[in-house]
Amino acid sequence: MRALEFKSTGYSAFFSSNFYELTNDFFSNIKKSYSSFVVLLDENTSKHCLSPLLIEIDFLKNALFIEIESGEQNKNINTCIKIWEQLSHVKADRKTLLINLGGGVICDLGGFVASTYKRGIDFVNFPTTLLSQVDASIGGKVGIDLHSHKNMIGLFSNPKAVFVYPAFNTTLPERQLRSGFAEVIKHALIADDALWKLIKKYSLAANTVSPYIEKSIRIKNQVVKQDFEENNLRKILNFGHTVGHAIESLSLQKDKNSLLHGEAIRIGMLCETYLSHKIAGLPKKQFNEIIQYFIADLPVYKIKRADFATLLDFMRNDKKNQDTTINFSLLTEIGKCKINCTSSSELINESFEFYRKLHG
Ligand SMILES: NC(=O)c1ccc[n+]([C@@H]2O[C@H](COP(=O)([O-])OP(=O)(O)OC[C@H]3O[C@@H](n4cnc5c(N)ncnc54)[C@H](O)[C@@H]3O)[C@@H](O)[C@H]2O)c1
Ligand SMILES: [Zn+2]
Repeated sequence: MRALEFKSTGYSAFFSSNFYELTNDFFSNIKKSYSSFVVLLDENTSKHCLSPLLIEIDFLKNALFIEIESGEQNKNINTCIKIWEQLSHVKADRKTLLINLGGGVICDLGGFVASTYKRGIDFVNFPTTLLSQVDASIGGKVGIDLHSHKNMIGLFSNPKAVFVYPAFNTTLPERQLRSGFAEVIKHALIADDALWKLIKKYSLAANTVSPYIEKSIRIKNQVVKQDFEENNLRKILNFGHTVGHAIESLSLQKDKNSLLHGEAIRIGMLCETYLSHKIAGLPKKQFNEIIQYFIADLPVYKIKRADFATLLDFMRNDKKNQDTTINFSLLTEIGKCKINCTSSSELINESFEFYRKLHG
């Protein structure tokens, strides 16, 4: 079997459970086009993910390896500076290929570093977390956080290719796997009723998640291809993220062990399902169905009433807004999403309160 190919805007995402099949054609063809190869990774992907790459793509043994410390708190300009310095130190030129081997942090940050170094060098993504396989590595958004403001600095910049190897998920901590699955749930809720039906019956495990990855990539790719720069349709991918990013920012700011992206997005989807019912026409029955699903697996994160104002402030400062009006993408029914919805602050607070009360 050959790797599945998803053609996107100027590049392809490849998907296969066989690493050799996944990479071989591409790397044998491009070998001569580049002067040097740099692999960006963190301590976890160095330990768990590097060996298949080095076994199958022999010439990468001579690559430069840049290892950064894992974690969202490192997705910032200081880490970029360190990487740019190392690239410059080894005289990486415009014909250097950067290979991102890691989760969403490595893909976002590595893509940003590559796209700005010497006005841009090529990069490819090897996403190693469920979240990055179904979401962060595809779609061409690269960037970093500014203090606790998520993804504030960045650009649209496509990789040369993305290689999705589901087996990487088997070494992923359970918490990370669950976090990544939040984006699969999102893809189903906004675009694929049939996938939602499967998800409701599915018990998440790394060795059975492959079909969900494939379906998710298909959905994201379809959307991005039609609206790369997020003028219209692509905004549906923001379902759960208006509230979710604010919660993630709040948690990054105040918690020692902060929420993971997907954990925050689960809470965001819950609050935005509430808003979807109140203002976007999501029928009561479907509202209940979604809430029941989330309640069965509720994040233990508690939000205090005193945090509501901070959350609203984060949301007003979100880059998705035109001015200070907060922009939402909400469900009209399961599998359909409406963009450019607005809500009063009162109703947004009500949605926080709805979540708060679920914790009793
Ligand atoms: N660009 C986009 O379109 C987009 C979309 C969604 C999310 N994101 C971004 O993605 C980031 C979150 O991505 P993430 O959840 O992958 O986080 P991450 O990159 O921090 O990875 C999570 C943890 O898993 C470890 N890890 C990675 N692969 C592993 C493996 N195979 N085995 C064991 N450990 C492994 C990492 O070292 C890290 O500790 C956020 O910054 C978010 O903003 C971007
Ligand atoms: Zn997300």
